[in-house]
Amino acid sequence: MTDTKKSVHGAWSSRFAFILAATGSAVGLGNIWKFPYITGENGGGAFVMVYLLCVLLIGIPIMIAETMLGRRSQRNPVETMVLLTEEAGADKNWHYLGWMGVIAGVLILSYYSVIAGWASAYILKAFTGSFFDADAAAIKGIFDDFVGSPMQLIFWHSLFMVATMQIVARGVNKGLEKSMQLLMPALFVLMILLVAYAMTTESYFQGLNFLFKPDFSKLSSDSVLTAMGQAFFTLSLGMGSIMVYGSYLPKGVPIAKTTFIIAGADTVVALMAGIAIFPIVFANNLHPGSGPGLIFQTLPIAFGAMTGGWLMGILFFVTLVIAALTSSVALIEPVVAWLVENKGFSRQKACVWSGLATWLLGLGTVFSFNVWSNVKFFDRNIFQLLDYVTANLMLPIGGFCIAVFAGWIMKRENTEQELNMPDAAGYQAWKILISYVAPTAVFFVFLHVIGVL
Ligand code: TRP
Repeated sequence: MTDTKKSVHGAWSSRFAFILAATGSAVGLGNIWKFPYITGENGGGAFVMVYLLCVLLIGIPIMIAETMLGRRSQRNPVETMVLLTEEAGADKNWHYLGWMGVIAGVLILSYYSVIAGWASAYILKAFTGSFFDADAAAIKGIFDDFVGSPMQLIFWHSLFMVATMQIVARGVNKGLEKSMQLLMPALFVLMILLVAYAMTTESYFQGLNFLFKPDFSKLSSDSVLTAMGQAFFTLSLGMGSIMVYGSYLPKGVPIAKTTFIIAGADTVVALMAGIAIFPIVFANNLHPGSGPGLIFQTLPIAFGAMTGGWLMGILFFVTLVIAALTSSVALIEPVVAWLVENKGFSRQKACVWSGLATWLLGLGTVFSFNVWSNVKFFDRNIFQLLDYVTANLMLPIGGFCIAVFAGWIMKRENTEQELNMPDAAGYQAWKILISYVAPTAVFFVFLHVIGVL
């Protein structure tokens, strides 16, 4: 595979375009919606430390590996696993890894789009002044009424799916790349504004304390799994999105260095979201552990009460939708690329079908907040089940397999050639992390959770 078979989709126009797109995929609801609420539910600082450790020791090496797999084959995840299995002379069962990624992307997007729909709806609510002078009970009422209405959720979910597919249908350069150039800088500016606002509240340091001061007594084994799952989720790992983005990466771009920038930017945004949100939560005597509704049920109280809150509220939810959009396009890209490359679909047709399937699945999440809220599997409603199965199971398992494949199955000369690191020590460090540290860590967290350890 040393010949450079070009992807039929073309390639990123520059290294920077790839950095933007991959950062766009990484930075999303995971950073701004999920990270704060699971940090709140899991007690703060200690959870954050485990999460950061997972990003460094597991996330970054796997991100390097996943990008490398995609770039080597220049094909979608399903085909990547077929080609690389062949190259390594490995067992055909490795093909399933590609499939799992494609499926995980659709599953995640199905609920991701519903939550992104909430954020879209909240732009309008912020704009029309719904939060103005509303107390906690009133804000909760707004949220409960909203998620209790299937029609409203379906409307916003549909709108978000259409927007996503519009971008994806335009292709790698005119769609993904172009929208990132616009959306990513806007996102960073908005985040900085939000942090600056939080710094003016008197609870700023209380928020910082909550985020960074570890209290390990608050950490359960499930928290550790959640922290690891979050590391995978937030870096978009373990499911082929980074692989497919890697497949559009020109040969010769240094993968490891580029990965550090992406993972670094993602971590910075998550911490910024925490720094922006917790002071506001504490300043208003709100509870950090209030679940998926945290930012929708708590922040609007602050927006409704503070000077400049009208604008800040609009800006916040606009930021959230932008961040979600730059991720959702990456979630659907593996299946779209597979339909185009392997099934001969036009990109438009691939978008219509994959978009429709995802939309339909998303109805399960919509109804889990209202008419089907009592439908439970293993004590979880459909949304919670999808979230648990994808983030806590499929992504870590996918990541584990990617690590084993890159560390043990691929030939050393091939990984060395593809990564092309200038210094041997860097390569060696990655090789140890990917072969031993990352797989062992994932394995032990799982043992711990099923109660063996
Ligand atoms: N990283 C995204 C976020 O933090 C969510 C996500 C998980 C994702 N897997 C992905 C995005 C794959 C794009 C591709 O919100």
